[in-house]
Parts: sequence; C-alpha cells; structure tokens
Amino acid sequence: MTDVLHEAARRRTFAIISHPDAGKTTLTEKFLLYGGALGKEAGSVKARAGRKSVTSDWMEMEQKRGISITSAVLQFTYRDCVVNLLDTPGHRDFSEDTYRVLAACDAAIMVLDAAKGIEAQTLKLFEVCRQRQLPLITFLNKWDRPGREALELVDEIESKLGIVVTPVTWPVGYAGDFRGVVDRRDGVFTRYTRTARGSTMAPEEEVDPERAAAEEGEAWTAAMDELELLDEVGAEPDRELFLAAETTPLFVGSALTNFGVAKLLDAVVDHVPPPSPRLDVKDEARPLDAPFSGFVFKVQANMDRSHRDRIAFIRVCSGQFERGMVVTHGRTGKPFATKYAQQMFGQDRETVDEAYPGDVIGLVNATDVRVGDSLWLEPPVEYPPIPSFAPEHFSVARVRDTAKFKQFRRGVSQLDEEGVVQVLREAEVGDQAPIFAAVGPMQFEVAVDRLENEFGAPVELRSTSYRLARRTDAASTALLRGMRGVRVVERADGTLLALFESPFWVERLEADHPELVLDRLVAEGAAG
Ligand code: G4P
Repeated sequence: MTDVLHEAARRRTFAIISHPDAGKTTLTEKFLLYGGALGKEAGSVKARAGRKSVTSDWMEMEQKRGISITSAVLQFTYRDCVVNLLDTPGHRDFSEDTYRVLAACDAAIMVLDAAKGIEAQTLKLFEVCRQRQLPLITFLNKWDRPGREALELVDEIESKLGIVVTPVTWPVGYAGDFRGVVDRRDGVFTRYTRTARGSTMAPEEEVDPERAAAEEGEAWTAAMDELELLDEVGAEPDRELFLAAETTPLFVGSALTNFGVAKLLDAVVDHVPPPSPRLDVKDEARPLDAPFSGFVFKVQANMDRSHRDRIAFIRVCSGQFERGMVVTHGRTGKPFATKYAQQMFGQDRETVDEAYPGDVIGLVNATDVRVGDSLWLEPPVEYPPIPSFAPEHFSVARVRDTAKFKQFRRGVSQLDEEGVVQVLREAEVGDQAPIFAAVGPMQFEVAVDRLENEFGAPVELRSTSYRLARRTDAASTALLRGMRGVRVVERADGTLLALFESPFWVERLEADHPELVLDRLVAEGAAG
C-alpha cells in the first residue's frame, strides 16, 4: 500500500450533531480526554470557563454568549487512527455552516438527551445527514440522571426519523441509577465508577454475564429482558445498512461522567468509514492516491483579530498535501501557494506540514477562494458544488452612513463569497439595498456585526415578510414582476429567485400559471 492509501485508511472524519444542550460540547471534550489530546489543553479546561474553549470561540459575540458560531476542527490520534472531529455550530439557531461542515464529513454522531429524545434541531440536522446519506451513530446521553426508558427512545428515533436503530450497548440500571452497559456483541457487562465531574477517565470493570446477573440483580434481568425484545425484532447492527444510512448503531452513556465514552470512541474507529474516492462533477471517482486535491467547505475571515486574515478550510480528498506546494485553484485556474497552510485545533493554530485524505487544512490569505471551490495538482478535478440551502429569512440591508457606501459594498460582497449570508439584489435597487437571505437569523447578526466592526460600515437591517424562494428564469420573471406578493431578485452567480411570503401563494401561482418556472431550491424541506 502506498503511504497515501495507508494514511487515508487511518482517517476517521466526522461531526457531532445535536440539539443545543444535549451534550455535544461535553462529549467533544471527553473525546479529547480519551484521545489523549487534552494534555495540551488541560490548562484551559481546568479553568472551567474554558470548558467550551476547545471549540472556537473567536468572535466577541460568541464569547459574550458562550456559543460557538464558527466551526473548528479537532484532530487527535486514537488507537492507530487519526480522528478528525469537525465542530458544527452549537447554538439554537440554524445556519448554513452546519450543512457545509457535514459535506466535509464521512459520518456523524447524533447525540440525544435521554430525557428529551428527538428535539427540533436534531430532526433538521438528521434530515441533512439523510440527504447526504451520511452514516450515523446515535449516542443516548445523560443516562446518569432521570430520563426516559431506553426502549421508548428507540421507538421514538425510529418513528420520528425513519431509521432503524441497532443498539450496540444497552443500559443496565434505569436512567438516574446507571450502573453500566452490556455490550450486545459479546454479552459482557461494563461497570462504571463515577469520578468527580468526570475530569478523569471513568474506571471501568468488565464483568462476565453470570457475575453481572448475581451482582446487579433486577437491573441486569431488566436489561436482559429488553435485549431479548430487541433480538426478536432483529435489530442487529449491519455494516452495509449502516454505511447506506439505513440503520444507526446505538450507544448509551453519560458524557459528563465519562460512562460509555470509550466505547463510543472505539465505535468511531470501528464504524466510521475511512475516506473513499470522491466523485467529481462528472461522477468520476478521484482515486485516493491520485495527486493532491480537495474542496473548500468553509471560508472564514477575521479569525484572528490581530491578523485580519481569511482562511479557507479544505477537506483533502486525494493525495498527500505538503506545505509549500503550489496547487491550482480550479475556478480561476490560478496557482495558489500553500506556504502558510495551517491546522486548527480549536482556537490554536499550528503549521501543518502534511495532510492526507480526510484531513482538513486551513489555507491562510485565500483571497479569491470560495466555498465549493476545488484545488488540485494535475490532473485537474472539479468537485460538485456544496449546495446552498433554501433560505427562510430575508432582510433588506442599508448602510447607515452613506459616506461608508464603498466599505459597505466591499463587505457585502465578501460576506456573500464566504457564505455568511446569501446576498440578493433587485435589478432596480442593486447594491444600495441588497436583501440578505439566511437559513437562520443568527447569520444576520454575524453579518451586521462584521460589516460594522470589520468593514467600518454600520448597517440597518429591515426584516421582510418573505419566507421562501424559488428559482425562476428570465421569461417567468417578466410575468412575475407584474404580480402581487412576489419579488424577483438575483444572486451574485446570476440565479434568479422569486421570493414569496407563503407556500400557499406559490401553489396557487403554480396551479394558475403552469408555464411559470418555479423550481425548489436544493435541500428545501431540510431547512424547513
Ligand atoms: P451542547 O454543546 O450540546 O449545547 O451541550 P453541553 O455539552 O454544553 O451540555 C449542556 C449541559 O448538559 C451542561 O450543563 C452539561 O454539563 C450537561 N451535560 C452534558 N452531558 C451530560 C451528561 O451526560 N449528564 C448530565 N447530567 N449532564 C450532562 P450546564 O449546566 O449547562 O453547564 P455546566 O455548568 O454543567 O458546565
């Protein structure tokens, strides 16, 4: 095996998705603890406030709210694998960033709060995973405190998400009196012991079934009865079905007390598929050991205020990346020097000297680079664009001080390129009052904050009553312009969009004027 194939086979690239407060941050931190990566972060983790510091809290706004708006990448080694954990924004609001991060992953872990089950955000994120056919591992968290019955939760996941749950571990002891888990693969009971706030790994004891039955009594019997039920319905883990995103292996535990964390991390190594050859726009697979290639899934400006920089995050798809390489930027055909390539670990940056398929690198000063762009060494390759998602919020932006119009225009086009918001323009109004469109309103706050603080252009945002957009064409535009309750706008890439206040209006128009082109945008529904 070549070096590249060997290295690619060791990569596990995934993200954690969850409803806010289900425990994503805690679990991330525990993964780092078990992955031995907390050594270098121990200081900030100890300082309590630093609990979230492993995620990237770089913007002042984020720090004020204690949320992570941007995504960072955490890389550590576990067993013989290089684990790349891509962080998705963890706030209540939804943003397009999450979609883009999932486009760069090979699998996801869905964390559920055992007392709550499937919550609104989990459902939305799950839909995105399903669309991408992303294999999904489920973790039932917070088993250390009172919650719902495990069987009931399995039922809810299946009925609400339409995915078959195949439990791998099962709780012994009800939620709130959690003794440990039984592993369905070998029947062995793992007993956990609590440590103070889970700051160190939870001591584990492997107990054979006979002894477990004697020592755990009723709790053991109850777990066995439940497992029997599961056996009857045939909820057996199956690799093919998992990879096809039709079934999800289930693990139970408590991130806070570290119960079940090691088994979950083992599952990442055992179940998450290593990178596979990525399909290009022609549906041809680029072999993993072909020369270097990758695509941009995120562009972030101003991560470091003292540097005022712009970083493009690239998921490596093929070949070995070596810092200093001059690669081609597919969209412009221009050479791109990678002298300052970096690897991110939360807030910290390190220079990266080499990277392999599955890894994420940050290219600094990536001025012309946009989300979705491909970079390569000969032969060229163009990866499919990351779909931009159907916005549901539309606001008109105006600069407060007309003397700052130039800064406003520059800032708006920069935010558009980064995908912070989608920028829509009306033919007659143009740059004076562009419409910002977003999947979640938090994107607006980020845009306003950055326009003011980074570009020196304070803006006023006025929300509109538009709630959905459909792709249209020039011929339909002529007709639509004369109609009530419709606004036709243009994206920077030339796409014409018709904005509507309600889906009923669209349905009526479609019925009355079948000649109109009103195409759904990609991933509509996932966002709704
Ligand atoms: P998020 O990133 O998904 O938003 O969730 P986060 O990890 O921040 O966890 C949300 C809250 O749930 C935190 O409590 C955290 O301590 C708690 N939590 C996470 N995992 C578990 C678990 O397994 N068991 C229990 N009992 N609680 C858990 P908090 O009160 O908001 O913060 P803190 O003061 O405890 O740090």
